[in-house]
Amino acid sequence: MITTKLHTQDAQAFLPLVTTTSDVEKAYQELISKTGKGNDFLGWIDLPEEITPSLFAELNHTAKELAAQSEVIVVVGIGGSYLGARAVIEALQHPFKALLPHEKTPLILFAGNSMGEDYHKALMDVLDIKDYAVIVISKSGTTTEPAIAFRILKEHCEKKYGKTSAQKRIVAITDEKKGALKKLATEENYQTFIIPDDVGGRYSVLTPVGLLPIACAGFNIEKLVNGAKKMRDNLIQHQAFDKNIAMQYALLRYLLYREGKKLELVVAYEPQLFFFIEWFKQLFGESDGKEGKGIFPAGAIFSTDLHSLGQYIQEGERNMFETVLSVEKADCHLPIPFDNNDLDGLNYLQQKTIHEINLTAEEGTRLAHISGNVPNIRIAIPNISEETLGELIYFFEFSCALGGYMLNVNPFDQPGVEAYKTNMFRLLGR
Ligand code: PA5
Repeated sequence: MITTKLHTQDAQAFLPLVTTTSDVEKAYQELISKTGKGNDFLGWIDLPEEITPSLFAELNHTAKELAAQSEVIVVVGIGGSYLGARAVIEALQHPFKALLPHEKTPLILFAGNSMGEDYHKALMDVLDIKDYAVIVISKSGTTTEPAIAFRILKEHCEKKYGKTSAQKRIVAITDEKKGALKKLATEENYQTFIIPDDVGGRYSVLTPVGLLPIACAGFNIEKLVNGAKKMRDNLIQHQAFDKNIAMQYALLRYLLYREGKKLELVVAYEPQLFFFIEWFKQLFGESDGKEGKGIFPAGAIFSTDLHSLGQYIQEGERNMFETVLSVEKADCHLPIPFDNNDLDGLNYLQQKTIHEINLTAEEGTRLAHISGNVPNIRIAIPNISEETLGELIYFFEFSCALGGYMLNVNPFDQPGVEAYKTNMFRLLGR
């Protein structure tokens, strides 16, 4: 079995903090017995078990049909209706896919996750000349950003392909019964997938919200869910703190927070994990940050950001800890050539792989940051694949819920998100 390992390299620094595990054990029992706050939003816990072969088949079939008629698939959505799919697709796909000839799967582009007018106009310029399909995703069906983008896309699609063909190029993912998108999808006879009632947006990547776009991009959604299932089995089976990595991670975060470490910098040394960190930020930020409490989730890609944020991390305000997503193996090998003149002085590295040097940078940085009083948690995966991403997704969802319960907040609501909307609607005169 592929395992996700939690390393606390500077165990000495942590040990005095862990005087009792009772807080996290209580949170764990609340979560698995489904008696804690927000327990009507715990559908994500059993999702990996519950996705039926017929749903997989329908998702894969729809993905194939959309892909067959499209060079581009536009995924419309924001927050939890966007970040999970993008996190997985960008982690797995060739970073220069758009420039490769003979690509078999469509390019996935995203819309409705901002109100950038220039961005959306540029997207329409592409859609003028490329064949495309649209997946529109909104659980509430009423979120402004994706609704605006979809109105524009729908009109464009109908003008380009005609009403009847456009209807076959649009798939909606929304609530089973309510919301404007549900109404529109029914009126327009769009193929529709349902977001379960008891799964909130940021916990929805393993529903059609994430699975359909990921399948459209050509990735194996069964493997992704299987990874999540392995992690689920592991976390449900191991109820003791010393065997349960989600309990360990959640407790360490909580103890560090209580010690004044109010910011968690999530770091990856692989640039393709950028959007995975964006997904993490939403999951933890919206789940923890309420009632005047919560760790602020931030993200960085190293070694890139060591050349921008590195100084601050090493010597700035001492209020952060670091969580490193470490990838043990690269998929490819790019040799460093031997150079007879060695003018750049790099021949000493010639026997090493770039990934080995990257891991050495990780180790050197860990030692430096620990000595600068930035505690370091290392979560290692063997490689980046559907399975390991599935494991990580479930691991973080579970840990996040535990952390929310330890803070005594409801990790499944987001009342604060309404404040900007209320002002915006008032200012717009709605
Ligand atoms: O986690 C959440 O619930 C939110 O971030 C939502 O995903 C986000 O606001 C989008 O909502 P909706 O899917 O209703 O358009």
